[in-house]
Amino acid sequence: MTTIIGIAGSLRRGSYNAALLHAAAALAPAGCTIEAAAIRDIPLYDGDLEAAQGLPASVTRLKERIAAVDGLLIVTPEYNNSMPGVLKNAIDWLSRPAADIARVFGGKPVGIIGATPGARGTVLAQTAWLPVWRTFGMRPYYGHSLYLAGAAKVFNETGELIDADMRERLRAYVEGFAAFAARP
Ligand SMILES: Cc1cc2nc3c(=O)[nH]c(=O)nc-3n(C[C@H](O)[C@H](O)[C@H](O)COP(=O)(O)O)c2cc1C
Repeated sequence: MTTIIGIAGSLRRGSYNAALLHAAAALAPAGCTIEAAAIRDIPLYDGDLEAAQGLPASVTRLKERIAAVDGLLIVTPEYNNSMPGVLKNAIDWLSRPAADIARVFGGKPVGIIGATPGARGTVLAQTAWLPVWRTFGMRPYYGHSLYLAGAAKVFNETGELIDADMRERLRAYVEGFAAFAARP
């Protein structure tokens, strides 16, 4: 069984990126599960808090889940042509202490997809994440790309992915990434 943790980088109730992660999980091929992890409980990074109390329990829990799974699927919004702060903040906490990065992230397959109501499908946000994966020594998946533009027309009001072409593209992405993340 291949297990993938998915993190959607938005706290918004009607988040297109959370809906995209939900759709990706539903399209996971046989032998693969995609679990959604929440980042709502992760506080703003504060080095004083870390020095005084160590990592918040929400961070430790998610770190250990990531360490245990075969792959990480990041579903990123795009803010001001880059990654959103709420998701970067979570990833920054998860990278602490730096001595743990290799154990938690090193060599781990990472996929990145994203959705926006805008026209360019989060291309710049996805690209902005690449130096972070390089810093962590991760293995980014380059077999497919998925840039979901015009999200208001691609999802319905309940967050279902109703565009047939996008569903097929997401299915191909998820199948390819699941095979990439599968242990040999
Ligand atoms: C501060 C801010 C900056 C944004 N900048 C961009 C941007 O650069 N490119 C883009 O496609 N959408 C941008 N948007 C629109 C987001 O893509 C949109 O709010 C989207 O719904 C956020 O993702 P979510 O639906 O998962 O919450 C921005 C939104 C906010 C609030």
